[in-house]
Amino acid sequence: MASILGIGIATIDIINEVDHYPLEDSEQRALAQRQSTGGNVCNTLQVLRQFEHHCALAAVLTPDADGVLIQTKITQRGIDLSPSQKIGFGHAPTSYITLNRHNGSRTIVHYRDAPEFDLNAFLAIDLTPFDWLHFEARNCMDTAAMLAWARSMSRTQTLSLEIEKERPHLEQLFQFPDVIFFSRAFAEGRDFTDPRAFLTAAHHWAPQAVLILAWGAAGAYWLAPQLGTIHSIPSQIVNPVVDTLGAGDTLIAGVIHARASGAATADWSPAVTFGVRLAEQKIRQIGFDGLNTQANQQANPIEPLCHLDDLGPADAVGVRPQNGVPSIIVVRAHKALYAYRNSCPHNGSPLCKTRRGYLTGQPDGLTLRCAVHHAQFDIQSGACTQGPCPGTSLQAVPIRIEGDAVFLASDPTPPANNESSIPAS
Ligand code: FRU
Repeated sequence: MASILGIGIATIDIINEVDHYPLEDSEQRALAQRQSTGGNVCNTLQVLRQFEHHCALAAVLTPDADGVLIQTKITQRGIDLSPSQKIGFGHAPTSYITLNRHNGSRTIVHYRDAPEFDLNAFLAIDLTPFDWLHFEARNCMDTAAMLAWARSMSRTQTLSLEIEKERPHLEQLFQFPDVIFFSRAFAEGRDFTDPRAFLTAAHHWAPQAVLILAWGAAGAYWLAPQLGTIHSIPSQIVNPVVDTLGAGDTLIAGVIHARASGAATADWSPAVTFGVRLAEQKIRQIGFDGLNTQANQQANPIEPLCHLDDLGPADAVGVRPQNGVPSIIVVRAHKALYAYRNSCPHNGSPLCKTRRGYLTGQPDGLTLRCAVHHAQFDIQSGACTQGPCPGTSLQAVPIRIEGDAVFLASDPTPPANNESSIPAS
């Protein structure tokens, strides 16, 4: 159990669930409405509490009814509010959220009428009891000074920073943290469409830090300065996606929990994998309750996908059933193994819903085939060679072989074309 201080914002989230995203200047009835506390750091601490860590929040707390509700709810969850700054004016930051039940997307309109948590309030906190300090990148000049102060006070505390969106003076923050969590929206906002290219650039901005980049349905990528290679942690297919609100905050909680409770090795794959699995569980359900127990049931990282004996010399099997349908296809051909998500880039449906039935053609010219609209894909590259989605590819999944068992793996930066081909002879 670790002692973790989160520095950021506490919000009231008013969530309207709809069956489709509204058109501008239209009227629509919500299917349901709920209200909860939110804010990235609050969500992260809420999940960390479930893993029995001692959690404290440093945020600005307002005196209005919503502000009081935030304090009550957060305290009920066992999060210590004593580092927070109680002010006598303003209104609690409020997020009006449209949650699309069709695909789980969340659209946030945020309003705030309260100052940010500032340096003076931070300097008043006794930091000595904490093992880990996790910051949201908000008012960056103050946050940079907080990070610098914390670093000067202790070399052993882990300092992590979440960068969700572009902010003025963000560059001031990069030199201090041990760990930086980036959002996909931030990377794309800086014109990166390739997660590896983003992490390579970010490594120049923060050469001392472990960098973790969430990449939506593709999972997450990480880079540690000691290793210098980029690793990807693919996510499993989640169907249906129920609620993506706070999925990124949950991933961060999973990584912090795994690192704060495990060995301090240079390999962050187990921790990032745990974070990705926890985020997958979060998007399967409404809210954050019970993530610890669900995650323990879901995540079984040591279960192999299949064994080499399961595959003939030119063969494919569908494995890792999710809701009864294989989520990954493992292929043996050309004396190598390949693995792909069982999801056709044409419309996202499984290529096939059974254990076998993925290959078509003669032994020399075998391709993977989608049984739905007959798209065909090159086994070695995953590229579509025929059918309704030219120019697209199946999504490769990194694998490793141990003995005769085939496991999911993180992948050190692979050759350009195929992330996951490994000799299988
Ligand atoms: C989700 C969230 C919400 C909050 C908003 C703040 O990540 O933290 O709970 O209202 O983002 O930006």
